[in-house]
Amino acid sequence: MRLNNSQKQKENINLSNELDIERIPEHVAIIMDGNGRWATKKGLPRSFGHNKGVSVLKKIIKISKNITCKILTVYAFSTENWTRPSKEVDFLINLFEKVLKKEINELHQESIKIKFIGDLTPFPESLKLMINNSESLTKNNKNLTLNICVNYGGRQEILKAAKEIAIKTSSGKIEPSDIDEKLFNSELLTNGIKDPELLIRTSGEKRVSNFLLWQLAYSEIYITDVLWPDFTEIEFLKAIKDYQSRNRRFGGIESLSNESFEDSYFSSLSKND
Ligand code: IPE
Ligand code: IPE
Ligand code: MG
Repeated sequence: MRLNNSQKQKENINLSNELDIERIPEHVAIIMDGNGRWATKKGLPRSFGHNKGVSVLKKIIKISKNITCKILTVYAFSTENWTRPSKEVDFLINLFEKVLKKEINELHQESIKIKFIGDLTPFPESLKLMINNSESLTKNNKNLTLNICVNYGGRQEILKAAKEIAIKTSSGKIEPSDIDEKLFNSELLTNGIKDPELLIRTSGEKRVSNFLLWQLAYSEIYITDVLWPDFTEIEFLKAIKDYQSRNRRFGGIESLSNESFEDSYFSSLSKND
């Protein structure tokens, strides 16, 4: 069934109303995958998929803000994506710069804070400048933080943190016994950002592709077959709704309806020991 725009709006509102406002994830991370396949299926060059992907991201930023999600982290270019044909890599790098230039004012007006996460060194100076300017222009914005992961790899991030810690340890700044999760976190590129409650991956691939390896330890994972250029606000709201139906146990157990029964069972076992 194809919905027209006003039907889509209605479905958005209906789905938004069904959400539990007490359980909106504060931080949603997205692996925006499937641009190339989307274009190829239509007989178009892969670049068309990347362009369409940008317009989808704009809509997802808006809906995230509207449902009061606080942080949206998107995977835009991985450390492994350099292995693609140089024409595609160049296209993507140009696209980042073009889109940032075009959209930054509107993002700023909507009080969206932009942050780039990843090793920016290999990028052209003009893009680095745009990134710097966008981050400083939007640094005090409060509605939503948009983290864009470019030239990002989870393993590289962990290695970098390990090296920093090794340097601090060997220079005597810290003791090996000081190394705990909090200290390790503080050396990650995501320092100060809470872990995502929800990870969405489009295009049906069931892998994390080197994304936020440390941070996803207890994130809920939602995978949809929808290719990123076909992803919509409705699909996003479905993912949030699905997240709200999850039982997050963090290695513990559900709160028990029959606690005294469980207690007496365990104490009888220990008596029999
Ligand atoms: C995701 O789409 C965007 C980037 C990795 C830059 P892909 O380009 O990976 O598209 P598929 O997965 O080949 O269809
Ligand atoms: C993950 O998608 C990276 C981004 C979305 C930027 P890939 O297309 O690079 O991942 P694989 O190759 O399917 O694992
Ligand atoms: Mg892909």
